[in-house]
Amino acid sequence: MILPVYAYGTDILRAKTQEIESSLEGLAELIDNMWETMYHAEGVGLAAPQIGQNIRLFIVDTEQISKDDQKSGIKKVFINPTVIEETGEDYTYEEGCLSIPHIRADVTRPERVKIKYLDTDFNEYTEIFDGFDARVIQHEYDHIEGILFVDRLKPLKKKLLKKKLSLIKAGKVNADYRMRFA
Ligand code: NI
Repeated sequence: MILPVYAYGTDILRAKTQEIESSLEGLAELIDNMWETMYHAEGVGLAAPQIGQNIRLFIVDTEQISKDDQKSGIKKVFINPTVIEETGEDYTYEEGCLSIPHIRADVTRPERVKIKYLDTDFNEYTEIFDGFDARVIQHEYDHIEGILFVDRLKPLKKKLLKKKLSLIKAGKVNADYRMRFA
């Protein structure tokens, strides 16, 4: 089932998120719905707060757009993740977000991320990701920490986007997928 994507300005995107218990009812279905919602909206990642759930969960699929100069990407569910460290050179990449349609902007982050997480069987992993995979993971991890990529922009850029962001907050934006506004 395709779920509405919560827009910039909704409280859930800033809410504190809870750890997930393996006994959580409907988790598998929720994850299925997140995949469907993400693909429908042509995203490469989606975090639970974006579909109205304040739980520590996000999904990533960078296999869809694997480039020639890169390994084939990842398709993974991250449950109760914790970023252990970010390393490597800082680099700048233009990010977007399904909760903030039609806005893209340069964000600077370290190139590598070490993250501990559970898969859908609640097996624990600690892995290091880099490049585009790391970038999407960092963006989605921010979501479950209540942080949006626009929070990370330089002050001038943030100022330039203020009007557009207030329009999204007011629901005055057209996305190609269903959204829920504040
Ligand atoms: Ni996002």
